[in-house]
Amino acid sequence: MKLAVVGGGSTYTPELVDGFARLHEILPLDELVLIDPDAERLRLIGDFASRIFARQGLSATITTTGDLDSGIDGAAAVLLQLRIGGQAARHTDETIPLQCGCVGQETTGAGGLAKALRTVPTVLRIADRVAELAPEAWIVDFTNPVGIVTRALLDAGHRAVGLCNVARGLQHTIGDWYGVDADRIVLDHAGLNHLTWMRGARLDGVDLLPEILERHGDALARRSRLPVDTLRRLGVVPSYYLTYYYGHDEVVAEQRGGQSRAHQVAAIEQDLLRMYADPALDEKPALLEERGGAYYSEAAVNLLAALLGRRGDKPDIPQVANVRNNGTLPFLPDEAVVEVPALIGPDGANPLEVPPLAPLYAGLVAHVAAYEELALEAAVHGGVHRVEDALLAHPLVGQAHQARTLAAELVAANRAFLPWA
Ligand code: G6P
Ligand code: MN
Repeated sequence: MKLAVVGGGSTYTPELVDGFARLHEILPLDELVLIDPDAERLRLIGDFASRIFARQGLSATITTTGDLDSGIDGAAAVLLQLRIGGQAARHTDETIPLQCGCVGQETTGAGGLAKALRTVPTVLRIADRVAELAPEAWIVDFTNPVGIVTRALLDAGHRAVGLCNVARGLQHTIGDWYGVDADRIVLDHAGLNHLTWMRGARLDGVDLLPEILERHGDALARRSRLPVDTLRRLGVVPSYYLTYYYGHDEVVAEQRGGQSRAHQVAAIEQDLLRMYADPALDEKPALLEERGGAYYSEAAVNLLAALLGRRGDKPDIPQVANVRNNGTLPFLPDEAVVEVPALIGPDGANPLEVPPLAPLYAGLVAHVAAYEELALEAAVHGGVHRVEDALLAHPLVGQAHQARTLAAELVAANRAFLPWA
């Protein structure tokens, strides 16, 4: 089986390769193709990936190429993990909104919109090639903003599922607390990508959440900046991305005085690349844990194995994925993309029923879902007015002056990446 990774030159690729190596029995690969326009990075990452496979005694071939078509030709699945404009563009996403008093974040708020504008046209172009050259292939999208990018792919008729590591990370954290395998923790997790709440965590049918909130409430509260007594009263664990909502002004003040995450990541990446270049290194270094992508390889392997019909042993374990709403959250349009537990199989990802979302969460979800729809309109059709509309609709922007200023500034900063500007 051939698997292709678009953006294979990413410093995250060793995380993915490590997962493929560790979990090769779940997902046996014949060939892993890393596709990237940066030849130098690709050579370095490709050589390191081969050493990781060799260490595990895997015979699968690792191919590297800058040519998209030959890379995806005949693949069973294509993973998208690209970052248009690299960390330099991310830095503008994280700093321009701050000028207007809005949070600077690569997926949330105005920065996420800029990233969507840069990313959606390229992803759709790649997906068209996949449809042509590997029409049976599943597209697994890690590329942020995952909700908007996945919706773009589905609207264009592609066989796509969106994936994020946040839920998998929670399963691991809880599994570690209880000394059990992460797969045994069944989450009641609902919302949109990077806008979710966990309202239950069952182990063998028993909900552990009340006990978790008692024992670990403080640590969990810090991650989203909700006071711990509020967290306990509500009985939920918000994703750490909710910190940008619940602690918005505090975050803005911190961001104004600090270094952007893009600059921090660029420095980590320099060190990682130096390490990867060492011919003696054949396992992923601990430094990679300083990036946000922990367990994303595991989420990918589990999802791919299920999509490709290789999870006969565990066919009905739900996995959290980004899928068409189709009534799952009844207050959203069917076409919206939601992040919920789903049963995954060769026919795709089928969302499970989730208990109704209370107004406290549903309000924000509906608001951001409306923004995402307008963001996708702007990314697909272009035009500074569409960008302004999306910003007006976003709960973290919303004011006319900010929306107009940020629309102009984000378009100006990203002009080189926007086919319409
Ligand atoms: C988490 C999110 C990803 C995001 C990453 C950023 O893993 O789920 O969607 O890309 O964090 O991590 P970074 O190290 O690039 O800040
Ligand atoms: Mn994510």
